[in-house]
Amino acid sequence: MSPFLLTRTLPEDATDTALRTDVQRGLTGTPKTLPPKWFYDARGSELFEQITELPEYYPTRAEREILITRAAEIAAATGARTLVELGSGSSEKTRHLLDALTGLDTYVPVDVSDSALTQAGQALVAERPGLRVHALIADFTAGLSLPDTPGPRLIAFLGGTIGNLLPAERAAFHAAVRSLLSPGDALLLGTDLVKDEKVLVRAYDDAAGVTAAFNKNVLAVVNRELGADFDPGAFDHVALWDSGNEWIEMRLRSRTAQTVKIHALDLAVDFAEDEELRTEISAKFRQEGVRAELAAAGLDLTHWWTDREGRFALSLSVAR
Ligand code: SAH
Ligand code: TRP
Repeated sequence: MSPFLLTRTLPEDATDTALRTDVQRGLTGTPKTLPPKWFYDARGSELFEQITELPEYYPTRAEREILITRAAEIAAATGARTLVELGSGSSEKTRHLLDALTGLDTYVPVDVSDSALTQAGQALVAERPGLRVHALIADFTAGLSLPDTPGPRLIAFLGGTIGNLLPAERAAFHAAVRSLLSPGDALLLGTDLVKDEKVLVRAYDDAAGVTAAFNKNVLAVVNRELGADFDPGAFDHVALWDSGNEWIEMRLRSRTAQTVKIHALDLAVDFAEDEELRTEISAKFRQEGVRAELAAAGLDLTHWWTDREGRFALSLSVAR
């Protein structure tokens, strides 16, 4: 079996410190917010995998279709010897890329979810003798450093996760990605596209309630990690389309006036009836916007592929 290396670049207590800071800041501000990376504990990662299989949640299927259709072109255009994947999760769709990248030396999946990384990484090395897998537990928004592996390097960022960052965070993210690439290296970016509001809202508010459970899971994380007493049943899941910003916004709406205690922070947080806690945005894109954001970071868009229904795009850009 080929080597499987798991490196933790986050110190053991980093999660705790960062979570405390984020919760303190987010729950004492107006409006109340919580940052999205806290969705993904083991239960959250599992719920996300269920989301990817929902009939309403088209992005995973659309992106998989593009990967299957275009993997050979991606391989030919990049000649990648190292594939780095940010927010790799289960690495399920990535298999199509791994199949096509015949000269690949090392796959570097990067994720904050320890459980998802370990499961995916171990399965991959068992299946693919000869592939080196160097998994990194790391926050892709916080000064990533990559192992020294052979180029050309291809960084993949799939699933539309880029849309979970605010515009200013996206600019910083693209600049950080550019700094990890040498001229001629490439970025493969998955972006969900602007479309009919009903289709979008359904994708984030499914009939079976899986997305609602996923959204509320962040409360369970705060309960467990910071000794809080959130009652997930006292909140409703809300997904709405912000047409000005062209993003879906996920919120948790307090069903009643209530006070939540966060023991580890020595904090009591009052919620008014119907007060909303903002948990996540999922921005939707157009080609010109993606091209401009990438160009501003020194990444030139060379390919733009969509699924047959034009719902989702995968773009390839090259570092200047
Ligand atoms: N790429 C997969 C998973 C997308 S879900 C797919 O397309 O299906 C988003 C993934 O990004 C999750 O696995 C989550 O744990 C990870 N993630 C979210 N924020 C992160 C951060 N700041 N740093 C590293 N990983 C992050
Ligand atoms: N990257 C995914 C997306 O924006 C994450 C996601 C899917 C998500 N469903 C969600 C995040 C529901 C929060 C809540 O499509």
